[in-house]
Amino acid sequence: MENYENKLWPLIYDQVNHGRHEQELSFYSSELSSCSGPILEVACGTGMILLPMLHKGLDIYGFDVSLEMLDILSAKARSKGILDIHKRVTQQNMVDFHYDKKFEAIFIPARSFLHLPTQEEQIACLKNIHDHLQDKGRFLLNFFTPNLKALLKHAESNKKLIPYGRFQHPDTRENIEMSFSQKNDLSKQILYITWRFSFGGESHETKMQVRWIYKNEFQLLLRFAGFKISTLYGDFDKSSYQGDNEMIWVLEKAGT
Ligand SMILES: C[S@@+](CC[C@H](N)C(=O)[O-])C[C@H]1O[C@@H](n2cnc3c(N)ncnc32)[C@H](O)[C@@H]1O
Repeated sequence: MENYENKLWPLIYDQVNHGRHEQELSFYSSELSSCSGPILEVACGTGMILLPMLHKGLDIYGFDVSLEMLDILSAKARSKGILDIHKRVTQQNMVDFHYDKKFEAIFIPARSFLHLPTQEEQIACLKNIHDHLQDKGRFLLNFFTPNLKALLKHAESNKKLIPYGRFQHPDTRENIEMSFSQKNDLSKQILYITWRFSFGGESHETKMQVRWIYKNEFQLLLRFAGFKISTLYGDFDKSSYQGDNEMIWVLEKAGT
């Protein structure tokens, strides 16, 4: 599965996610600002969260499966005079990543955990995170609450392209028109998205999979992997979860 492992998404990723990231960055920065030990961002992408947190003085590390996203992160780091970013950021998979150190906190912003398509991979990832946390370590992540009405809207196979937005090629400045088609598999709980990027008189397509997760389902996964729930927020402003908004989990190792 491609997801962000292509040359197209990384080109415009920061433009697409500009507004959303402000809120996430402010939430995770405030939650993690008290950490004096190392922090790990799983699936750090182009560094929209990692680089500002590093700038704030946090001892942050990150990895991502997409070399193309990491190339953008490295270029941004270089432009800020950070020449040794490779000591902090590597290419790894969240299912089987490895570090020789343990972290005070591990977090997965931007719903990246939903890119794991099977329960086996979800459990392997959660257990691996558990193994990489210090004894009183915290694990934070967010993803959306599945909305049945919205899921049913794309339940039938439909190749119809839905306009998504107009962005700018960072090198040539030409417009990139983005659109997508979507098919939701209600039994596998997977959104299959085909993204289309049109620019320079040509169109290119990439594929993405997002596996939605229900609240009770995730609670079971957490129990299985040895986590207990500290807080479940419903918004990045730290308001409580009401059942229909973003799920923002703050978790601890069970038994610590
Ligand atoms: C929505 S982006 C989030 C990027 C970044 N955390 C941010 O806040 O901007 C999702 C990221 O997850 C990464 N990803 C998807 N599957 C992954 C996997 N199995 N292991 C590691 N990274 C993965 C993608 O390459 C992509 O960079």
